[in-house]
Amino acid sequence: MNAIHVTDYGTPAPMHLTDVPTPHAAPGELLIATRAIGVNPLDLKLASGAMRQMMPLHFPWTPGLDVAGVVEHVGKGVTGFTVGDEVYGMIAGGAYAEKVAAPAALFAHKPSALSFVEAASLATVLQTAWQALMTVGDLQAGQRVLIHGASGGVGTLAVQLARAAGAHVLATTSPDTADLVRDLGADEVLNSRDLAALSQTEPVDLLLDAAGLGQPDLYRLIRRGGRFISITLPTHDALAAENGIEAHKLTTRGSRETLDAVRPLLESGQVKPQVFQTYPLSETAAAWQRQAQPGVRGKIVLIPDGTPA
Ligand SMILES: NC(=O)c1ccc[n+]([C@@H]2O[C@H](COP(=O)([O-])OP(=O)(O)OC[C@H]3O[C@@H](n4cnc5c(N)ncnc54)[C@H](OP(=O)(O)O)[C@@H]3O)[C@@H](O)[C@H]2O)c1
Repeated sequence: MNAIHVTDYGTPAPMHLTDVPTPHAAPGELLIATRAIGVNPLDLKLASGAMRQMMPLHFPWTPGLDVAGVVEHVGKGVTGFTVGDEVYGMIAGGAYAEKVAAPAALFAHKPSALSFVEAASLATVLQTAWQALMTVGDLQAGQRVLIHGASGGVGTLAVQLARAAGAHVLATTSPDTADLVRDLGADEVLNSRDLAALSQTEPVDLLLDAAGLGQPDLYRLIRRGGRFISITLPTHDALAAENGIEAHKLTTRGSRETLDAVRPLLESGQVKPQVFQTYPLSETAAAWQRQAQPGVRGKIVLIPDGTPA
């Protein structure tokens, strides 16, 4: 089977598609034939070397977290899945491949209304948005929530989840992507590059920073007793204390419980995947080049060569 091998750090990182042995499903795991694979900014950051102190890579390295595909083998002790099931989930790495073996606990059955491409586009960002807003943020109906960086993979899902939860949704984007975010259900769309104007808005109960720049001014947009959730950089704890807010740094956990929690929203169409573009797996370098440029609205998804889309 074929997989992407990244052979060194770089921007762009050197990579190629190559034939590797098919993995085996260990006890507790599923072997999955991938039908679609999501691209995440983290894949590019790891390959660039920017995170090598924290998360060093061993080359050759196969990137990737988001998998949608068909179960080919069920490992010992796994219940609830059979060969031929259509599944999706977020794994710990190595998704840019025609087959992956990973813990069954990370996967859920793919909602039938979703294509494989749509399901792969959701796995990480939907779980991130849910865990940020609901698990850590404890978002309640009627609260004011601000999604900063709302046009990206996480932001587009967060806007829809917050709307479905009955919150008053403020969203920031560049002016180019304001229409998309308004169409997703944001009550107010603000310019993410104009923090001075943002400071004029009524304080929010919860702020999700999906732009990931760690701007300290964001802390002042939250009411005392409110919450700030970072999904990228460490929080400024002194600044949080000064402003009387809680600040949390979330690391997303792939989990069937989260995928099951969002299933009704996907089945009812209240939350829709935002697929921006697809590329063959063999053109991962081009997909990464696009991901690194501005104006990506939602997700880029890879399709193993020869797989029907
Ligand atoms: N902690 C975790 O476990 C976890 C999980 C998933 C993602 N992440 C991280 O979270 C971040 C967001 O992920 P993503 O998949 O949503 O990324 P993404 O699709 O690249 O979205 C990021 C958004 O940030 C906005 N942005 C870019 N430059 C900006 C600026 N100068 N000011 C304000 N907004 C700006 C962009 O919006 P415009 O186009 O409107 O400018 C873009 O849509 C990434 O850094 C990712 O690595 C962390």
